[in-house]
Amino acid sequence: MTTAPPDMIDFPFSANGLHLPEQIALLRSTPVCKVRTIAGDEAWLVSSYALCKEVLEDERYSLAATSAPGVPRQYALTIPPHVVNNMSNMTGAGLRKAVMKAINPKSPHLRTWMREHAAVLVDDLLDYGPPVDLRDRFARLYAENLHARILGISQADAAMLSSSLDIAFMNSATCPIGARLNWERDIAYVTGLLDDPETTGLLGALAELRGDPAYSHLTDEMLATVGVTLLGAGVVSTMGALSMVIVTLLQNPELWQELCRRPEKIPAAVDELLRVNLSIADGLPRLATADMRLGGVDIKEGELVLVLVEAANSDPAMFPDPHTIDLGRPNASAHLSFGRGGHYCPAVPLGKEFIAVALDALAARMPGLRLAVPVDQLVWRTGYMKRLPERLPVAW
Ligand code: HEM
Repeated sequence: MTTAPPDMIDFPFSANGLHLPEQIALLRSTPVCKVRTIAGDEAWLVSSYALCKEVLEDERYSLAATSAPGVPRQYALTIPPHVVNNMSNMTGAGLRKAVMKAINPKSPHLRTWMREHAAVLVDDLLDYGPPVDLRDRFARLYAENLHARILGISQADAAMLSSSLDIAFMNSATCPIGARLNWERDIAYVTGLLDDPETTGLLGALAELRGDPAYSHLTDEMLATVGVTLLGAGVVSTMGALSMVIVTLLQNPELWQELCRRPEKIPAAVDELLRVNLSIADGLPRLATADMRLGGVDIKEGELVLVLVEAANSDPAMFPDPHTIDLGRPNASAHLSFGRGGHYCPAVPLGKEFIAVALDALAARMPGLRLAVPVDQLVWRTGYMKRLPERLPVAW
């Protein structure tokens, strides 16, 4: 039996990453629905695939405008307002090419490094023996070390910078004091790394631009912001998505066995695993910059619109039998887990490669991988922009 959704529901939904929130079935009949956010403001929650895509592809639904003072908010900003439109800032500053080169998995040696490093991390786990926390000792380390490699900084520095993310990605009504302190400290630290001759990679390349008159408009702080934000967006997304992919596979051992037997299927399986991925716990926020009509609903200029990726990805109108994980699903790559439109994730090939390489390394050496605790004992992080198991204890 389905019931009509109440006039105003609270958002976000459950932080539990094992099941789609039950509200999503109720929202199918109301794909544009009023919700109350953590900040206490009203927003439109969009939950059909077609309408989510429409919002993401229409620039009048603006990401940059969500950081303007006084607008309705999903939760308090934890970063300086101008940083919200980060990738556009990088593009405007002429840095897009350097960034895209650094995050391209086809860049010289990056793919080889990823394969070798994932294998080393799995070796370490095998030496240590079960049980281990696969989130902390594999997904996190692999994500941090990959970003150390991309930025050209030490693994210790990447770990230090990544420790800020536990606060930076909190979603709360008021900004945690720690978020601003961490931000300022991290920017100061990365500014120092620009002067360090040991710094290579993207930060080294950015540091070199400082001698080029064509880039005289760039301040050290702008360059450091590129590093801090890429590490933040990248580590949280890769670590989170991989942890959730592993949870999915451990709950579906027949799929894991299939990938262990036929590892050549892994790259194609990644999109379907990302389609059912519940990593994103909030809605992708946009502010209407004009009066608009969406799915028969009037959206007024200045109103907040939240795109619910997990609902789009499980919309039966787009993905028939959406709750079945079909590793051969023909349109799996149409999922919105990397967003869509003007703010589509610039690191899609890297994100997919990261997950494929990790699964390949685990499948090769740990076909018996299983949870070391009953699944209902996984603890899900709350008050956070991503769904994440606090620990992922596994045996093999
Ligand atoms: C599996 C891994 C990843 C997932 C699932 C993911 C997901 C996303 C999503 C959903 C968006 C769109 C946000 C929006 O529209 O509001 C996005 C944007 C972005 N992502 Fe990723 N991401 C991943 C990996 C990465 C990595 C590795 C990096 C950098 C090293 C990165 C950097 C960015 C940046 C800078 C943006 C902002 C783009 C813009 O505003 O134009 N992402 N990502």
